[in-house]
Amino acid sequence: MTPIAYADFHARSLAERDSFWAEQARRIDWQTPPQQICDVSRPPFARWFVGGTTNLCHNAVDRHAAARPDERALLWVSTEVGQQRVYSFGQLQGEVEAFAAMLVEQDVGAGDRVLIYMPMIPEAAFAMLACARIGAIHSVVFGGFASSSLASRIDDASPKLVVSADAGSRAGKVLPYKPLLDEAIALSTHKPSAVLMVDRGLAPFQRVPGRDLDYAELRRRHDGARVPCAWLESNTPSYTLYTSGTTGKPKGVQRDVGGYAVALATSMDWIFGGKPGETFFSTSDIGWVVGHSYIVYGPLIHGMATLMYEGTPVNPDASVLWSLVEKYRVTVMFSAPTAVRVLKKHDAALLKQHDLSSLRALFLAGEPLDEPTARWIAEGLSVPVIDNYWQTETGWPLLTVAHHIPGVQAVPTRLGSPGVPMYGYDVQLLDEQTGAVLTAPDQKGVLAIAHPLPPGALQTVWGDDARFANTYWHSVPGREVYSTFDWATRDADGYTFILGRTDDVINVAGHRLGTREIEECISGHAAIAEVAVVGVADALKGQVAIAFAVLRDPALASPALEGAVMKHVDAQLGAVARPARVLFVTVLPKTRSGKLLRRALQAVAEGRDPGDLTTLDDPGALAQVKTLLQK
Ligand code: PRX
Repeated sequence: MTPIAYADFHARSLAERDSFWAEQARRIDWQTPPQQICDVSRPPFARWFVGGTTNLCHNAVDRHAAARPDERALLWVSTEVGQQRVYSFGQLQGEVEAFAAMLVEQDVGAGDRVLIYMPMIPEAAFAMLACARIGAIHSVVFGGFASSSLASRIDDASPKLVVSADAGSRAGKVLPYKPLLDEAIALSTHKPSAVLMVDRGLAPFQRVPGRDLDYAELRRRHDGARVPCAWLESNTPSYTLYTSGTTGKPKGVQRDVGGYAVALATSMDWIFGGKPGETFFSTSDIGWVVGHSYIVYGPLIHGMATLMYEGTPVNPDASVLWSLVEKYRVTVMFSAPTAVRVLKKHDAALLKQHDLSSLRALFLAGEPLDEPTARWIAEGLSVPVIDNYWQTETGWPLLTVAHHIPGVQAVPTRLGSPGVPMYGYDVQLLDEQTGAVLTAPDQKGVLAIAHPLPPGALQTVWGDDARFANTYWHSVPGREVYSTFDWATRDADGYTFILGRTDDVINVAGHRLGTREIEECISGHAAIAEVAVVGVADALKGQVAIAFAVLRDPALASPALEGAVMKHVDAQLGAVARPARVLFVTVLPKTRSGKLLRRALQAVAEGRDPGDLTTLDDPGALAQVKTLLQK
């Protein structure tokens, strides 16, 4: 049979939505089959596989443990502490059941929240899977966030229990977690009743009597425990994951059970081309969406081993990732453009030192993939390098080139573009002012998705349906469509090119950060009267944050104060949010009505033309910025 064109296949996924996804739903085990494939009766909400009962942990662990208990499931390597561990599916199930028993003993049950603030260690994955097993909702907070970021997430999620560890480690430097957690709990209004601590022996810490529990002790006590999977209606929340937006308050992206499992299973096969029994390696972190979808759930649901890595791409040297590919016979790898740009600064011969013959493809996501980086790594690896665009909200790729759909022609990659809309996504490009659908090639518009979002995408914002509807669905005039908040163009062949965010979100080394959160934090420093933070293009990290601050007393401007403001951000939000520079100015560029001209500030910082400045109140403001940047 001649394969059909991808565009026809994509059209079918939308036109025959329910039969399309009913077929995909067979990829996972259901205890009760779905009664209805998609309930669209209450836009902008959508409910997938209504009435079906299933469990993420059963699909990721138990069903494989039953069929092939001795096959590898979770591989863990830490170049930070020089350790590695291998868990088979059978062993993984044992760990997850023991963890689940600890949660149950602490009275954590279905619907309760568990906040996970952990470095990249196997116990973090056990914790996530144990929550999924019993129907508790996990909320993983990236270990790079500090006390006030953590406190706001604790208050929003109101977890019954927190799982944490003494410390993480980065580039050989021990980063204690416990003091930040204790400070966060002191700051938060909601107080979790228990904190389960994994002690790695990296950083001594104080235990809070009656609250802090010792993982090692509990693990011994619950060895061999059996805790059955809770069969959950497909639309039961499985987890929340906080992400930044326009306001300073992070949004808890909430996901379901059944839709997520089906979407991940399908993507592992059709997009990533992974095969059960092989090894998948994503260099992300469990604190980000890529870690949820493609370190923990996706590979395991698909019956693949997943390689979890604690370390940087350049420690002990810039060939460490390739040595892992060789050692564990990785077939599919997932990373971010920044990691590749970091490697590119080192000797290309490092790539050739290892036997990479197992590797079939490298997927890159999270930020724009520039052409030189894409070319360099594709030539070095001699395997396809595949850009893919998506968001915390969508949970799996929205634009890429799916190469593994049986009977469907593969779409060739095109440098500079992540690709074409994936099956299930009704992607539209809209005029920002009028909401009109842009159909002619090369027009710039807002990238949007028509209702309903496919399985696996967010259900709502945790605890705030109104915010979900208003933020995401009502931002384009006259239309109820999901906005990605990204600018894009589309060429005559349907390839989409991402041009950057329409809101105040910036992307630093693939990490999504809200400039408003950073501004709120810096304004909290005693010396600062006012501040604007913008994202500025950076050759290595894609973007970096630059803060322009007005001091209460301009005479105090000094490099020492710049350092102090950065330390303040480190302590409050975490080093991940630290601006690359804090520049002291006497006035910020504003319109006569007082609106901050961030875009003009960004343009000047990037050496571009700031455009129309007729509304600027004080023309000296931008001149001052220019002079400072030239220094
Ligand atoms: O601006 C887009 C950018 O990252 C945002 C989503 O970030 P996050 O929620 O952290 O999810 C990352 C999941 C991979 C998007 O709105 N972005 C993501 N992937 C790409 C990208 N920009 C350009 N090209 C990409 N491939």
